[in-house]
Amino acid sequence: MFTAVVLAAGLGTRMRSPLAKVLHPLLGRPMVSWIIAALREAGVAEIIVVVHHQEEAVRAAVLAEDPTVRFARQHEPKGTGDALRSAAQLLGPAGTVLVTAGDTPLLQASDIRRLLAAHRPGGGRSQRMATAASFIAQDPAGYGRIVPGVGIVEQAHCSPDQDAIREVNSGLYAFESTWLHAQLPTLLAHPPKGELYVTDLLGRLDGVDTGVADGFAASAFAGVNDRAQLADARGVLRRRINRAWAEHGVDFADLDHALIDVRAILHPGASIGFNAVIEGACDIAGSIGANAVVRHTTVAAGAAIHPATVCDGAAVRGGAQVGPMARLRPGAVIEEGAHVGNFVEVKNAVLRRGAKANHLSYIGDADIGEGANIGAGTITCNYDGFRKHKTVIGERSFIGSNTALVAPITIGAGAIVAAGSTLIQDVPADAIAIARGQQRNREGSATRFRARLAAEATSALKSSV
Ligand code: UD1
Ligand code: CA
Repeated sequence: MFTAVVLAAGLGTRMRSPLAKVLHPLLGRPMVSWIIAALREAGVAEIIVVVHHQEEAVRAAVLAEDPTVRFARQHEPKGTGDALRSAAQLLGPAGTVLVTAGDTPLLQASDIRRLLAAHRPGGGRSQRMATAASFIAQDPAGYGRIVPGVGIVEQAHCSPDQDAIREVNSGLYAFESTWLHAQLPTLLAHPPKGELYVTDLLGRLDGVDTGVADGFAASAFAGVNDRAQLADARGVLRRRINRAWAEHGVDFADLDHALIDVRAILHPGASIGFNAVIEGACDIAGSIGANAVVRHTTVAAGAAIHPATVCDGAAVRGGAQVGPMARLRPGAVIEEGAHVGNFVEVKNAVLRRGAKANHLSYIGDADIGEGANIGAGTITCNYDGFRKHKTVIGERSFIGSNTALVAPITIGAGAIVAAGSTLIQDVPADAIAIARGQQRNREGSATRFRARLAAEATSALKSSV
């Protein structure tokens, strides 16, 4: 049984953000929750997050992702050692305690398992009391150096020789709880800020009780301290997610140019176009075209979202076609074989099987019957300035182009509405509705009309000179 403590009380000033550092979102999940997810995947049962800055917001965001996490409050951020002390009373008397920072979201379950294995050299016969994971940094600036025979020395306290050491402390540790409880009260404050360092617990790293597990990948511990590093971390996580879905049978036009957030579920056979964005709780089995943005939407197998379409809160059933350049808003349901074409906006409306709205329409608060055809430019006038009203269009009906349907209104099954109509009354089933001005053709009038205009223009010119 493992317990983990995530140190997340820091503010993260360098983010230049009003939001606590650990709450910055990475592909639909706050930074700290990526670490919690990795700990869970590694089999950690009990997780304690140490909080201080924006405590309430951090608690709420963490619990939304994982309701069993517990919290310890650090009264004043007085260093990593002090942060761990604030969690001590929540730690059991025995067992192994993992400690990690809250700002290294690239940490993976495999790194955690590896540290735990090193913490028990020889499979537990020679149990260590404390183990720190180290890696070789390209640039060790900012990290505690692993100094043989001394321990972990923070950069601020390094001699010039120590400063040159590139093996650094990752900030991921394993401790034996019994030992930890005895050692925590002995930590001493470091001047000038009076901070306690968790790294002091590791003392002499070549001692019998504590040690260092080396050879970890630097990339696992890439810390996020500013927005540039945040964007870098997003890039790494994005590629990780895309690769995992590709291995699961999803076809990607380009693994580097698609953004799938962590909440989305994709199915084998789904295909993701160049630069597609899939956000929120999506369930995608169909095909998503280039530059489409799809949020909180279900796309069934055999359905296609064509390029540059935007969907939010919609359901698209098998064989349906949406776009290019369509917009589905919350409550849009596009049933089997229905079509929504370019520059068509659908909100809180169902297009039943085989219904088609292929060009330039607004379909809001509507029920479009099976096989109905909605002509180009049809608008459901659903809003009277105060309330929204419903439009019901019967199956197999035909709505001519440029029709305005002033809701509430019902068009019966199989009815035909003449193009250019503005309808304010219901249309019975099988009726033809025409609601537009009468057309009159005056034979030969065009020539006479032009002659008159020309004469008028000439006399106006003469009188002005
Ligand atoms: C720490 C280590 C350093 C290591 C590096 C790895 C110490 C003294 N140094 O330095 O050896 O190489 O991590 O990234 O531990 N935190 C609190 N309360 C506090 C202070 C910090 O919860 O009072 C949290 C922060 O929110 C952060 C984590 O602890 O998530 C690490 O703190 P940070 O100040 O970033 O430590 P580093 O200077 O990076
Ligand atoms: Ca840090």
